Amino acid sequence: MLVIRNALVFDGSGTPPAAFDVGIDGDRIKLPIGGRATAEIDATGLALAPGFIDVHTHDDFAALLHPDMAFKVRGGVTTCIVGNCGMGAAPFAEAAVLARAFHPHATLPDWHGYAGYVDLLDRHPPSVNVGVLVGHGTLRMAAMKRSRAEPSGAEFEVMKSALNEGLEAGALGLSTGLIYEPGRYARTDEIVELAALMRDTGALYATHMRDEGVHLLDSVAEAIDIGERAGVPVQISHHKASGRDAWGLVTESLAAIEAAQRRGVDVHADQYPYTAGSTILSAVVGAPGRDLRNLAYDDVVIASTRDHKDWEGQSIAALATVLGRPPQEAARYILAAEPGATVIMHSMSEDDVRTVMRHRSTMIGSDGIPTLEGRPHPRLYGTFARVLGHYARDLQLFTMAEAIHRMTGFPARKFGLADRGSIRDGAIADLVLFDPDTILDCGTFEEPNRYPQGIAQVFVNGVQTIADGAHTQARAGRVLRRAMR
Ligand code: ZN
Ligand code: CU
Repeated sequence: MLVIRNALVFDGSGTPPAAFDVGIDGDRIKLPIGGRATAEIDATGLALAPGFIDVHTHDDFAALLHPDMAFKVRGGVTTCIVGNCGMGAAPFAEAAVLARAFHPHATLPDWHGYAGYVDLLDRHPPSVNVGVLVGHGTLRMAAMKRSRAEPSGAEFEVMKSALNEGLEAGALGLSTGLIYEPGRYARTDEIVELAALMRDTGALYATHMRDEGVHLLDSVAEAIDIGERAGVPVQISHHKASGRDAWGLVTESLAAIEAAQRRGVDVHADQYPYTAGSTILSAVVGAPGRDLRNLAYDDVVIASTRDHKDWEGQSIAALATVLGRPPQEAARYILAAEPGATVIMHSMSEDDVRTVMRHRSTMIGSDGIPTLEGRPHPRLYGTFARVLGHYARDLQLFTMAEAIHRMTGFPARKFGLADRGSIRDGAIADLVLFDPDTILDCGTFEEPNRYPQGIAQVFVNGVQTIADGAHTQARAGRVLRRAMR
């Protein structure tokens, strides 16, 4: 048994920390330690917490292509929930389109359905645990391509059987991306009918809402309505007010969440700790004649491309000058040349970010896009260290214990991850040991590919995966399947 001595232990519940020794016996936490220590780590001056659970990721393919998952595990993350924003790992043909956008030069293995995907992860485990959401957009694309129509009976059956296949393979829920093609063509009723298949299964509904700008409140109402009518828990993805005209609306969207909770709806949200978002360029460039979804061309910066490395890091306004075209036309030109390009949008207010973070309905999710070849949003690496170092320690937005709860015990409960997110006897030993005085994100928008500082040791299922800040190359991650009811 390995014993971690003298750490200040945050157990994930949000209660104040206490100093005591923690044992790791196989893949489980042992408390009190009893027995004999075969190895010891002196953790004097360090904090011990459950491994961070990143509830909002797009690591479906990275988990296979970059199995060391260094960009996550070096930041203390031990579990990633993949399949967010309606973008899932199956059916394969449709999933592969997204995979090629995020990983343009990689060779992808293929798989059949969600069962095939999780089976592949079982056989080639990454360094972190993976929980899977079924992506509605991917299902819809498989059933009806880019059709704007309501699904026919037969098309509905294709979507339902694919959703059921995912749920039987252990998926934790269904995600939508109602801003993206083809998710945006789905009416509320379509999603209710699909989500209702999850009633009483323990699976949840996670949503990138239809509009995070001036129609934020309508979008939150729709998300809650879907949860109530389908009878399933709701997770609002990356809660924010995007675009200057929408700033301040989060006060009301938080009030709407509270009101729904008082009615008994199981609704919460996640957030990444930055005033910039990131997505695929195609989601930002509107119809011809329409501007960038109420964003300025200055505020939208190319993050990754397939073949235009010199565009990365430049705003559309700057590229328009280089290309000698008006910005609107330049945006269209860039999209035509790079259909899979991703962008960073400087679109939020710091006040709103803090208002959302303080609220007890908010857990932490990075929404990182693992375009490792480009200049991804620094949230990919730094989200958890930034919440702990910048927002909890330096700005004292909330206590360290509360911040840790929002990334451990709270998401574990919401996503049904039994025995995780908690330091107690018998829980799974997903653990992170860090220096509370120095932990901080280190990436910037100019140089995002940097690991956070202050993370000393990370254990995944009891296996040491970060040792003295370095990756041990252990691949101890597991697929976290929903407990079947
Ligand atoms: Zn999203
Ligand atoms: Cu996302």
